Amino acid sequence: MACISTPPKFTVSQITSKSPPLSPFLLHFNSKRSHFPRNPSFSSPSSSPIIKTIISCTHSYSSAAPTPPRRRPQYIPNHIPDPSYVRIFDTTLRDGEQSPGATLTSKEKLDIARQLSKLGVDIIEAGFPAASKDDFEAVKTIAKEVGNAIDGDGYVPVICGLSRCNEKDIRTAWEAVKYAKRPRIHTFIATSAIHMQYKLRKSKEEVLEIARNMVRFARSLGCDDVEFSPEDAGRSDREFLYQILGEVIKAGATTLNIPDTVGITLPSEFGQLIAEIKANTPGIENVIISTHCQNDLGLSTANTLAGAYAGARQLEVTINGIGERAGNASLEEVVMAIKCRGEHVLGGLYTGINPKRITMASKMVEEYTGLHLQPHKAIVGANAFAHESGIHQDGMLKHKGTYEIMSPEDIGLERSNNAGIVLGKLSGRHALKDRLKELGYELNDEQLGNIFWRFKAIAEQKKRVTDADLIALVSDEVFQPEIVWKLCDLQVTCGTLGLSTATVKLIDANGEEHTACSVGSGPVDAGYKAVDLIVKEPVELLEYSMNAVTEGIDAIATTRVVIRGENIHTTLALTGEPLIRSFSGSGAGMDIVVSSVKAYIGALNKMLAFKRRLPRVSVSTDMTPVSA
Ligand code: KIV
Repeated sequence: MACISTPPKFTVSQITSKSPPLSPFLLHFNSKRSHFPRNPSFSSPSSSPIIKTIISCTHSYSSAAPTPPRRRPQYIPNHIPDPSYVRIFDTTLRDGEQSPGATLTSKEKLDIARQLSKLGVDIIEAGFPAASKDDFEAVKTIAKEVGNAIDGDGYVPVICGLSRCNEKDIRTAWEAVKYAKRPRIHTFIATSAIHMQYKLRKSKEEVLEIARNMVRFARSLGCDDVEFSPEDAGRSDREFLYQILGEVIKAGATTLNIPDTVGITLPSEFGQLIAEIKANTPGIENVIISTHCQNDLGLSTANTLAGAYAGARQLEVTINGIGERAGNASLEEVVMAIKCRGEHVLGGLYTGINPKRITMASKMVEEYTGLHLQPHKAIVGANAFAHESGIHQDGMLKHKGTYEIMSPEDIGLERSNNAGIVLGKLSGRHALKDRLKELGYELNDEQLGNIFWRFKAIAEQKKRVTDADLIALVSDEVFQPEIVWKLCDLQVTCGTLGLSTATVKLIDANGEEHTACSVGSGPVDAGYKAVDLIVKEPVELLEYSMNAVTEGIDAIATTRVVIRGENIHTTLALTGEPLIRSFSGSGAGMDIVVSSVKAYIGALNKMLAFKRRLPRVSVSTDMTPVSA
């Protein structure tokens, strides 16, 4: 990787190892019990008596030999043989899926889990099995398939299921994850005064008793990898935290996750919280400390890194930072920060993630959840490697390190002279494949074949097919939900002379054709009403948006819709309340009405696939929150 492969070129200041290293998070302490070490938690490779760099430019793009990748240490639930190794726990499929509109079908979850495994995440939190039959089945399938796909190096991700602190949830989680080679149960209960008083209506003593008993119960099922989270730890009383954490360690917990559930802490505070837990919890040396930082103040990545610096060796993150409210710490930001600065600023920390898979994982999650990235999103945003101003472009031409701290290639993008407008109607399958690869898409032959024919059709109508056109095509062709209904034909009339009309022909899963006509206030409305006459599912349209992906009259239009059906809900993990599900769909085409109707059908397909699996699992019929 360019960003860590070479020694820093520009050193702002240097110190010898005898000088105390500066904390990158400017930690402040006032607790009497704090034993926060100056450079805590590891004997880092950088503590050898050599000159150390405090602030450095890590990017050099030089031809120096790259640092050989370090081996992932052997997996032992409560211990990491190498103290510098940081486990990456991905919760895109659990916390991430709770983002409004981000509902994923089982097939999409499986695809994402496979991608997470290619990325090399240590633990996949595959869902909340007690929430619904769909969640249960999805976690079970991931446990069976992804949780047993051991690679040549012996790597296989741990598959984890979330559960509230009650026997039914825990048993359901175990029933789902037990098929994995490395199954984990993650159980949680709130420990802050506000949550215990108003949400749980339980005393500290009661919460402590439940936590201890439920961790013991999880172990009694045969699960030797149990994670415990004191929910809202960021606002919990410290002494109570040390006590409850000490008790769950005795009961058999192997990982202690410290959630900043409401994203209220600042990096210095969160680092201090981790350091103090490390210093004051009895038995802590026998478990792994983990972070789970929400992004309400936009500090989740900074807090997560502060936690790692203070001794956490598992970091909970999501792809693109999706999650409840303002989201979670983003995998790509945390991983690339450790990759780029771990050696020099974080005392030698490293992860087992293959960053070249980041782009594909990010695109897949973006497409499947319908949660589009802001262009300036760090690492994976469309502008993350774009250089607009003349001064910057001049610098980039002279030396890429002037304005880039990592190269696009590092995260699986390829910068080539082909970027921009290149493909046309004479371009072949190979050219298309190469360009898609450069854009970060790894497609199989069938997917490529489908894209190729669509590409040819567009190239017949447009002289030049741009990257943006290709991305829209992949989105329309590859990242689509299971097909329940497929658009066959569409005909609309519209204008000022009367009501718009639409005739729609759909094909169902058995290959049968269904046709309907409708009038509407415009062509899209008429088209949607005709679809409704065939599909017969009452839905509410929550969002509709359309974008032209390039300039010009022949641009491809992408449409995104979000719909909500009647009575389609699951359970919110943190509160046990019903979560009303909404479903997104996207479509692309040179005809804006076709693009709109495709997006609507995509959202309906997603909802129908989800609805089919809704009846609850028999192993857990009681969805009452533990507090009730
Ligand atoms: O935000 C939170 O507290 C959680 C826990 C269940 C880890 O998601």
